[in-house]
Amino acid sequence: MDLKKGRLNTGYFFLGLFAVFIGLYPLRFIGLPYEESLLGSKSETLLNSSLYLTAFYTHIFLGGLALLAGFSQFYKKLRRKRPALHRALGKIYVAAVLLSGLAGLGIAFFATGGIIPALGFAGLAIFWLYTTSNAYTSIKKPDIEAHQRWMIRSYALCFAAVTLRLYLPLFTGALNIDFIPAYKIIAWLCWVPNILFTEIFIIKRSA
Ligand code: HEM
Repeated sequence: MDLKKGRLNTGYFFLGLFAVFIGLYPLRFIGLPYEESLLGSKSETLLNSSLYLTAFYTHIFLGGLALLAGFSQFYKKLRRKRPALHRALGKIYVAAVLLSGLAGLGIAFFATGGIIPALGFAGLAIFWLYTTSNAYTSIKKPDIEAHQRWMIRSYALCFAAVTLRLYLPLFTGALNIDFIPAYKIIAWLCWVPNILFTEIFIIKRSA
């Protein structure tokens, strides 16, 4: 196996590993008392709002589904051998992003830490919805090259759920930064570098 192929396989392995691990993470919220999760930092008014709670749970469970449905779509072999499965998972991914992204945009305005994380998460939600809808419309044309570029961008944004959960222990544990200042930074750091690296990757790939 040459070096490039080996690196690609390692990359796919970690992509899949993190996607499964974080994709299943929302399941821990089932039956979990509010005070044992981020919901513990929310006001009584918010916790008594069925609209907020519906949006919150829609966001986390369908966000997890998007991560799980999305990662295998990048395996060339699977796309070639099982095109029907690729299309079915693609439809699940788009529907999950649409609902999780809209719900994420709604709950962003009540983010712990105030306006800075709120704007960070709202920006992420808007770009996630935008890139995913472009991926969908480009495959309908069909423009496969454009579809692949938009899907790479969309999934890099979806991966903010993973990077956020890698940065949090790094900032609050290893760097000993308090949760709120760390959260303000990470609400942006979890996705802006992802999309910048993705653009570099896309440019290099087509060069
Ligand atoms: C990519 C677009 C995403 C956006 C814009 C977004 C936005 C948000 C927002 C605004 C919150 C509430 C934060 C707060 O109240 O302080 C949140 C929490 C959460 N999100 Fe997302 N999110 C995204 C992706 C995902 C994905 C793909 C998952 C799948 C695992 C996910 C799982 C969660 C979970 C479990 C929480 C609860 C907080 C925690 O315990 O970590 N999110 N998200």
